[in-house]
Amino acid sequence: MEMVTEIVKFLKDRYLFNQKIGVILGSGLSVFSEQSLFSIDYRDIPGMPLSTVPGHRGRMDIVKVGDQEVIVMRGRYHLYEGYSSKDVVLPVDILKGLGVDILVITNASGGIRETFMPGDIMLITDHINLTGENPLIGGPNFVDMKNAYSYRLREQLKGIGKEIGLELKEGVYVGVKGPTYETPAEIRFFRTIGGDAVGMSTILEVIRARSLNMEVLGLSSITNVHKEDTSPLTHEEVLDMGNRISEKLDILLREWIKRGYV
Ligand code: HPA
Repeated sequence: MEMVTEIVKFLKDRYLFNQKIGVILGSGLSVFSEQSLFSIDYRDIPGMPLSTVPGHRGRMDIVKVGDQEVIVMRGRYHLYEGYSSKDVVLPVDILKGLGVDILVITNASGGIRETFMPGDIMLITDHINLTGENPLIGGPNFVDMKNAYSYRLREQLKGIGKEIGLELKEGVYVGVKGPTYETPAEIRFFRTIGGDAVGMSTILEVIRARSLNMEVLGLSSITNVHKEDTSPLTHEEVLDMGNRISEKLDILLREWIKRGYV
């Protein structure tokens, strides 16, 4: 049996899966931390690779938000850890197999646009794939990537942001492989080609999700903003700011799910 099918079967034997919404959480982001209805560590799922980065815990939780159950994937796989693009999209395949059709992808990213501030949340409107990878090599080919980041869902989120007084930025996410942070010259290049934020995740998962006809909501936490100076950027700083942004992100997503739009 194919790995995904096996994992999906393993999970379905342990819980009743009928959740529409799946969330993949980024570095240092923690939302929906209430008591979960069901929880399993990645290491207890046969066939599941382990995430190697601090801040990525590797656990699947099911939490109740309003009257919806939501699947939360805490921990993801990155190309820079040495995983293949097929490994990176495994959580998406699993969520699809469990019946999820709305995928929320969050990440920590570095701000490129000058008006961004650390602590901002950016609704991803589009992306530029500079990873050099694509999870669909071998098929399916020619998947449409217009509206990859659902206009419908973005409008819903913007409405909620206004209502609760949480300003949401919008912009284009540039996806790179990492694991180095960017040089100033790279940041100037990304700005020139229309990038607003840069990060080392998300892109491949979104491509896979679109090939599976899932509707995608992408949210970037701007943990740091690239400026023309020589102050160093550290992973700790990124994780620390991610923690602080989590609170806002939690409120935003909670309000959105509670409305029952989806
Ligand atoms: N660059 C790439 N990935 C990131 C950054 C960054 O500046 N901040 C958080 N993730």
